Amino acid sequence: MDDDHIAAMLGKLNFEIFVLTAAHQERRNGQIVCWVVPATIIPQVPRILVGVGRLTLTRELIERSQKFALNLLGKDQWPLVAHFGFRSGRETDKFSTLSCERGVTGSPILPGTVGYLECRVRTVFDAGPGAHLFYLADVVEGKILADGSPLCLHHLPELLPPEDLATMRRLLEHDAQCNLALFQGNSHQQHA
Ligand SMILES: Cc1cc2nc3c(=O)[nH]c(=O)nc-3n(C[C@H](O)[C@H](O)[C@H](O)COP(=O)(O)O)c2cc1C
Repeated sequence: MDDDHIAAMLGKLNFEIFVLTAAHQERRNGQIVCWVVPATIIPQVPRILVGVGRLTLTRELIERSQKFALNLLGKDQWPLVAHFGFRSGRETDKFSTLSCERGVTGSPILPGTVGYLECRVRTVFDAGPGAHLFYLADVVEGKILADGSPLCLHHLPELLPPEDLATMRRLLEHDAQCNLALFQGNSHQQHA
């Protein structure tokens, strides 16, 4: 297996960066996601697939409400990556310093983004212990808010301050170790 070629090939894909938001009663929260894939090419049945870590607070709110919103960040909104992606809403109220509206799903809609989609969960795929859960959802509302370019994963090394970049790499490395442990667990099962 050639890791460099695989990384180069995956580097050809654009991972747009979103703030995934959800609310249940008075509780609201949001997290960064980039595992977002359109799950249809038929405009009449818009669907989306989102990979969400099983331990995030946002996922807990999605489970309770069965709804969420995907706010597509613009390139100038890179400071929100640390705000929504480096710590959990269990430690801090991420909306205490941000004004936002609630969409038709009740999920927070952030201002200044490229646009947003609001979604209702159709089904959840469980990729096994330790792995992300994949939410297949119907898109029930959506709007383009600005004509800017979306922020993508490959923009972050040039945009984030060095200390934020180091934090992000540390968090992703931790995530990779967890997933590696899972893959090894699975391959033991397959060869048993
Ligand atoms: C660049 C970047 C991409 C991320 N992509 C995802 C993702 O696709 N899915 C996910 O569950 N978490 C992703 N995360 C991690 C979450 O945003 C992070 O765990 C967050 O703190 C969870 O917040 P919460 O507990 O308040 O919901 C990403 C983080 C960063 C910095």
